[in-house]
Amino acid sequence: MALETRHPRVAVIGQGAREHALVWKLAQSPLEPELYAVPGNPGMWQLAKRVDIASSDMERIVVWAREAGIDLVVVGPEGPLADGLVDALTDAGIPAFGPSREAAQLEASKAFSKALMRDANVPTARFGVFTEVDKALGFMRTLGIPVVVKADGLAAGKGVVVAQSWADAEAAVRDMLEGNRFGLSGSRVVIEEYLSGMEVSCMYFVDASAVVPMLPARDFKRAYDGDEGPNTGGMGAFAPVPSVTDAVIDRVTKTIVQPVVKALRDRGITYRGVLYAGLMITDDGPKVIEFNARFGDPETEVVLPLLATDLLQIAWAVAHDELSTLAIEWRSDAAVCVVVAGGDYPAGSDHGTPIALPTEAAAGHVAGRDGEVVFHAGTALRDDGQLVTAGGRVLTISAIATDIPAAIAAAYSAAETVQFERMHYRRDIAHNWRV
Ligand code: AMP
Ligand code: GLY
Repeated sequence: MALETRHPRVAVIGQGAREHALVWKLAQSPLEPELYAVPGNPGMWQLAKRVDIASSDMERIVVWAREAGIDLVVVGPEGPLADGLVDALTDAGIPAFGPSREAAQLEASKAFSKALMRDANVPTARFGVFTEVDKALGFMRTLGIPVVVKADGLAAGKGVVVAQSWADAEAAVRDMLEGNRFGLSGSRVVIEEYLSGMEVSCMYFVDASAVVPMLPARDFKRAYDGDEGPNTGGMGAFAPVPSVTDAVIDRVTKTIVQPVVKALRDRGITYRGVLYAGLMITDDGPKVIEFNARFGDPETEVVLPLLATDLLQIAWAVAHDELSTLAIEWRSDAAVCVVVAGGDYPAGSDHGTPIALPTEAAAGHVAGRDGEVVFHAGTALRDDGQLVTAGGRVLTISAIATDIPAAIAAAYSAAETVQFERMHYRRDIAHNWRV
């Protein structure tokens, strides 16, 4: 049954640009939901009531949601999903959009997701999981250079090293197993075959009744222009990706997403929420780099603006296993986003630097069919009302236009209107949009 209540109470958990995009999109629902941001950021507070509870504070979230009569909770980040927030809400009788703790292992444990892919015959890089340096190094030598070294667990996109030499590969293995750089996340390493090709992020809405692809997107993970420098949480994105045709998406659905959802079901796990497949399009077809159990950031900031169907109805349907009853439609436009970072991100973050944001951009609304919107990520309001930096990735500026070149131009002209000390952003986002 479609949601018919007017002004349903909907809470979004999280505080980044992805969650701002979720709040912004939900606010456009014809049902005019009463929105709550837990804990949110200053960009969201114009559209949603601020609830001062940390996204990791599961118990307080459940108690609050029950007392506030929340009709639906949409969980943004991976941490609360891996901790079992959706399970706790479901137990309390509160509909929630997002996978259960067990299903979220697809992202939280690379060892789990790799084993599942092996069982389901899903194309992915060859790999091994190790706790001992010697064994890891031995396996590495069977793969060749470049080779990929990953911390097993959640490391905010930064626990991956693509090593171009044996020395770098060995240093990465030692760093993760002996240096304890990622705490518990690094107590196991995954050593992986290097895949070459073009990367694409394919996100799906999934429930027990259907898997439905979103538009394909590409994010730019390296810190600097020319795809140089360390991996980050993501410095920009665009959607759709023209080379990822409907035929490619169909192949991804049939050879990757459906088999994985089925393999989970065979283990008694129903997946509900967003399943994000990070793919390499190789000469042998699409192969999985990683799964995420949630919307991608910054992909969400380019994919949601292109969604023509009411996100609130989709989230409601997924939480109730009724996705197959919906037709999901997309605008035929394109979107590009540029992440504005502060200080020396990704090495560190920036706090308390005043941000100058032009008023229209600050309002955070798409003016018409073409337009720009500023999603807040790491921002805070000082006591005197001044917007200041509060993180590494500070703002995501998205532009929607009729094609990608026009969206690139619009995103960069909007980025130029923002100012704060030590801000930086990549100048070449979407440079490879044709391939
Ligand atoms: P991940 O956190 O697993 O998405 O990895 C971060 C980035 O490292 C990816 O977006 C890729 O650019 C790169 N990467 C990870 N695994 C591989 C692989 N097996 N082959 C090539 N590049 C990879
Ligand atoms: N953009 C990659 C991620 O969300 O993990």
